[in-house]
Amino acid sequence: MEPHLQGKLDEIAARLRKASSVAVMTGAGVSAESGVPTFRDAGGLWEGHRIEDVGTPEGFTRDPLLVWRFYNARRRNLLDVAPNAAHHALANLERRCRDFALITQNVDGLHARAGTPNPIELHGNIWLNTCTGCTHYEWADATWRATGNPSAASFPDDPRCPKCAGRLRPGVVWFGEMLPDWAVRRAEQAVCRCDVMLVIGTSAVVYPAAGLAHLAAARGAFVVEINPQRTPLSKEADAVLSGKAGEIMPALLQRVASS
Ligand code: OAD
Repeated sequence: MEPHLQGKLDEIAARLRKASSVAVMTGAGVSAESGVPTFRDAGGLWEGHRIEDVGTPEGFTRDPLLVWRFYNARRRNLLDVAPNAAHHALANLERRCRDFALITQNVDGLHARAGTPNPIELHGNIWLNTCTGCTHYEWADATWRATGNPSAASFPDDPRCPKCAGRLRPGVVWFGEMLPDWAVRRAEQAVCRCDVMLVIGTSAVVYPAAGLAHLAAARGAFVVEINPQRTPLSKEADAVLSGKAGEIMPALLQRVASS
């Protein structure tokens, strides 16, 4: 690791140790080292599909079976994926902080699998099915979790609600949809009270999530960006750690822990 990065890590670790409250926001980059593809690298396509077709409510109305095939394929891919060193370091950091909130734009559920007890999932969770006809929701990975056996997971092509027989949809936020109110409120509260905010692996261009780092900065928090690429946030951040989350987060955690 470069010497200037070591100095920055020491300073940020000292701030984290002193902080009364820490907020973290993650994006697709935090899962990249687990093998989950990021969005902006995909040339406007999501795993070969147009976003309008598989990532909007209109696409689901037009062709629900296509959308379900797409999400079920993503779920099957995730069965073979495990949380990486960054997810684990963040779960560990939370145990060392007095007040801590982890806000994520990711729907892959990897933070919870690494042991983060209550992540604020701004864009929902791919393992959730919600009913389009009533308030029912269910976890699509319940059997897998209960048995610990990924091959026990079954993902029907056009799942139906056990209560009203309405069509179920993936419990994620699509383009053109509002983020869940409660999640935005919790995220804003966490960001407004934090002394340090880590913004990890996000291109920081999709609002309202991207606005949370600006809110933290405006409230006087020390904002740290962790990303191998520069983003629109880089100029405003108090520190930029240029590198991979799976390398930087364990190094940062080690410094926080060794005092
Ligand atoms: P993006 O794909 O836009 O950005 C991923 C970011 O991660 C980029 O800035 C990369 O440089 C960075 N990155 C890549 N590998 C990394 C690594 N190993 N460590 C750290 N950073 C790394 O993903 P998001 O910003 O999460 O919205 O995208 C935000 C939202 O846009 C998503 O939640 C999704 C998408 O459209 C919805 O689904 C509503």
